[in-house]
Amino acid sequence: MKFFIDTANMDEIREAHSWGIVAGVTTNPTLVAKENITFHDRLREITNLVDGSVSAEVIALDAKGMIEEGLELAKIAPNITVKVPMTPDGMQAVAALAKEGIKTNVTLVFSANQALLAARAGASYVSPFLGRLDDIGHDGLELIDTISDIFAIHDIQTEIIAASIRHPQHVTAAALKGAHIATCPLKVLKQLFHHPLTDKGIEAFLNDWNAQK
Ligand code: E4P
Repeated sequence: MKFFIDTANMDEIREAHSWGIVAGVTTNPTLVAKENITFHDRLREITNLVDGSVSAEVIALDAKGMIEEGLELAKIAPNITVKVPMTPDGMQAVAALAKEGIKTNVTLVFSANQALLAARAGASYVSPFLGRLDDIGHDGLELIDTISDIFAIHDIQTEIIAASIRHPQHVTAAALKGAHIATCPLKVLKQLFHHPLTDKGIEAFLNDWNAQK
């Protein structure tokens, strides 16, 4: 499983990128709205730094509008992935963009059937939202498991992005359930590094080293 960072903040992207673990970036309108910069300028900055997939979400809700926006977004850089919501119009846009060779990420996926529809429309990625399912008392991880099984049974190449990740346990479990990618906020990526025995071990090694001098 690869790591994407889920943010539109350049400082956060630079920090995670410096660790050498970031294979891509996902943004959404809420994340972009927090930034004091135009969407296209921010996407240029991100794609200048990150080689992997950079998801940029369309705002239009009708297929024609989504396709127009998607075509414009894709001009920004070759690694732009157009993020499209899971609706009938969205799938029409995914199919049209796929025909143009443009990668797409179908977002706001909350059921296995939605994931299957997205894959059949030609989506490069599907993004099931774990945390938001957990929030309403459903099991987000079970959804990843089911989508992963269905895609394996039917030899579907669409990659599963575990999204709406809230804590490190989501990451481990998503990897075990077969997600290809986990898109995580910086906070969660940072949490993945930590183990008290690692800190204790570093301290003990340094103390022993310094004691023998
Ligand atoms: C994924 O692409 C989304 O941007 C994101 O994971 C949403 O997460 P949230 O539920 O924490 O807003």
